[in-house]
Amino acid sequence: MSERKAQLTIDGVDKTFELPVYEGSTGPDVVDVRSLAGEGIFTYDPGFVSTASCDSEITYIDGAKGILLHRGYPIEQLAEKSTFLETCYLLLNGELPDSAALTEFETSIRYHTMVDEQIHQFFRGFPRTAHPMAMLCGVVGALSAFYHDTLNIDDPGHRMLAAHRIIAKMPTLAAMCYKHGVGQPYMYPQNDMGFAENFLHMMFSTPCEEPNVSPTLAKAMDTIFLLHADHEQNASTSTVRLAGSSGANPYACISSGIAALWGPAHGGANEAVLRMLNRIGDESKIDEFIARAKDPKDSFRLMGFGHRVYKNFDPRAKVMRQICDEVLDELGSEDDPLFRVARKLEKIALEDDYFIERKLYPNVDFYSGIILKAIGIPTSLFTVIFATGRTPGWIAHWNEMLSHAYRIGRPRQLYKGPTRRDYPAK
Ligand code: SDX
Repeated sequence: MSERKAQLTIDGVDKTFELPVYEGSTGPDVVDVRSLAGEGIFTYDPGFVSTASCDSEITYIDGAKGILLHRGYPIEQLAEKSTFLETCYLLLNGELPDSAALTEFETSIRYHTMVDEQIHQFFRGFPRTAHPMAMLCGVVGALSAFYHDTLNIDDPGHRMLAAHRIIAKMPTLAAMCYKHGVGQPYMYPQNDMGFAENFLHMMFSTPCEEPNVSPTLAKAMDTIFLLHADHEQNASTSTVRLAGSSGANPYACISSGIAALWGPAHGGANEAVLRMLNRIGDESKIDEFIARAKDPKDSFRLMGFGHRVYKNFDPRAKVMRQICDEVLDELGSEDDPLFRVARKLEKIALEDDYFIERKLYPNVDFYSGIILKAIGIPTSLFTVIFATGRTPGWIAHWNEMLSHAYRIGRPRQLYKGPTRRDYPAK
């Protein structure tokens, strides 16, 4: 099939630019604008709303239809039938593992969950009141110090080892952030536990008693990690790719992703949702907050609502709401006041023209915080949970980029500052 072209004409420029058009396996076509720089022309797209930054085969999102596929598999099916580690394998390798490959992968992850004892010293430097994301960002970046010299990012085997290490160590570091804050001893990972079970053990067990992790809560935790595993070229994943494009150490790249995720407009939204629900308090104040969210003069936004890509229900939010029901039932708190407020808030917002016109629906963060709180995880640790779940996606995109020819990411700008002027004579 002949190459498709787009024609670009610009007033005052007597040349028509022919730009190649490429088709993906599904989703929007793209116009290749790379040749414009040589013509002294930049495209302009703050926030990258209309920009495809790369080719990728990992995750596909159809925002209009509320579709999320990981290597072609719908998130709803993976949430129901897969596990977090199986999904990690899928994101990294492109295909679901057979039982032998899954066992090998699970074993590799299991034997990388411990962190160097020196890492304990890093935590000692943080105040007990340090935000867990501040600690996680610092400690993950510091992992570079332990592996930098043995890591050749051009070696696929080294890259996969780094991927296994960081996926395995995140829950251990996440639990250490929590234990540091509550002043309890760190719990070592147990090699006879599953990934999520081990995380809840490292979080809530103490040396004073035998571990006792609820299988229902472990399964819910595993699914929460799975639902966060990857999400195309979101802000934190794009940050990891940009950091990786300079050839930086993968642990430093993941640390940059953690930093980007922290913002309340991104992964920090789950923590912000809980604070919002607590501020609303009960159903009688919902209308007041909905009015504030709609008021252009009020900076308040309905946290957990809206999405750059989804203009329909975030498919992850639907699964999350179902887990919410199950966990609250298991814990006998199905009448949780925050859950009641969240359900009422969702119902009112979805019937309100302001939200309907702007296609604002609950996103992945709207219900996750209620579940995490019910499990006993403090609000300040919610985004750490998000980062732990998102790590396989970050490192899969990093690995995918380094597996092909790539260039350092270096956007340009529309300059609006002073033109050349001379320094005033004294
Ligand atoms: C995540 O990109 C990803 O994939 C992210 C993520 C992932 O898995 O990696 O899915 C995870 O980050 C989910 C999003 C979590 N953030 C929140 O829940 C914070 C609340 N949501 C918003 O801040 C907002 O919806 C964003 C940041 C998510 C999206 O912002 P956009 O795409 O830049 O949209 P916008 O700010 O231009 O909003 C369009 C309109 C505006 O109104 P008008 O100027 O047209 O009148 O919708 C309004 C906004 O004011 N709006 C909201 C709103 N979100 C958008 N109004 C009230 N409450 C909201 N939540």
